[in-house]
Amino acid sequence: MINKALVKKRFSKSLKTYEENAIIQKIMAKKLIKLLDSKEYNSIFEIGCATGILTKEIKNTLNFKEYSANDIVEKSQEYINKIIYPNTFLAGDIEEIKLNKKYNLILSNASLQWCNDIEKVLEKLINSLEEKGTLAISIFGDNNLKEIKDVFHIENNTYSSAKLRKSLEKYNLIKFEEEEFKIEFENPIMILKHLKLTGVNAIKEFALTKKKLKEFEEEYIRKYQNNGKVLLTYNPVYIKITK
Ligand SMILES: C[S@@+](CC[C@H](N)C(=O)[O-])C[C@H]1O[C@@H](n2cnc3c(N)ncnc32)[C@H](O)[C@@H]1O
Repeated sequence: MINKALVKKRFSKSLKTYEENAIIQKIMAKKLIKLLDSKEYNSIFEIGCATGILTKEIKNTLNFKEYSANDIVEKSQEYINKIIYPNTFLAGDIEEIKLNKKYNLILSNASLQWCNDIEKVLEKLINSLEEKGTLAISIFGDNNLKEIKDVFHIENNTYSSAKLRKSLEKYNLIKFEEEEFKIEFENPIMILKHLKLTGVNAIKEFALTKKKLKEFEEEYIRKYQNNGKVLLTYNPVYIKITK
């Protein structure tokens, strides 16, 4: 189970540092927008908007009449107000909140992996699409941060990409595409800092003693060092469904 209180706490703390460290999330936002066939929409709904990396892409590339945004962190509204205003902000857990409106386009970048039941959320979102509407999201696949999961023995995947893909075949699934990036860092501590600054350390709460930290560094270097640098894998998945 995903600890939602921890997700909220970690992302609230990392709002200020998120953007300059969210290298992969920025690439994902651009790719997500490129999946869209049309630039014209009546109403757009964005989930897990955070500081607005995807929101800026929406503003710069699409034409729309109404924009609604959601995040579990209420403070994210302050960032969104500076990008698209007026807007409708729905604060709360997307797994819990009721959606009363229908949208022509629903988007979410690098957020829905924090759901306990992503299939159910996607069903709810597809039901909130207007006829001929589009749902386009990016999430992370099984190999995301695989080095961290290995070294810290974390097994928290709430879905597998293969199973998710199969379950989405009942819809008009236009795209399901995966890719992998390996980012280089000077040392394992820089990786931990990077994860903290992007809020991605919301996976698990750790009490890292000096001894444990040393063991973590040694194991990471032994297993994942290449040409003097340590590697961290990101595994984005892009999904597009139309109604
Ligand atoms: C990695 S950030 C991605 C932010 C943004 N979409 C971007 O393009 O950079 C994930 C965001 O999803 C939000 N989030 C996580 N779980 C959520 C949930 N269950 N409901 C709504 N928002 C959630 C977090 O608070 C965080 O702001």
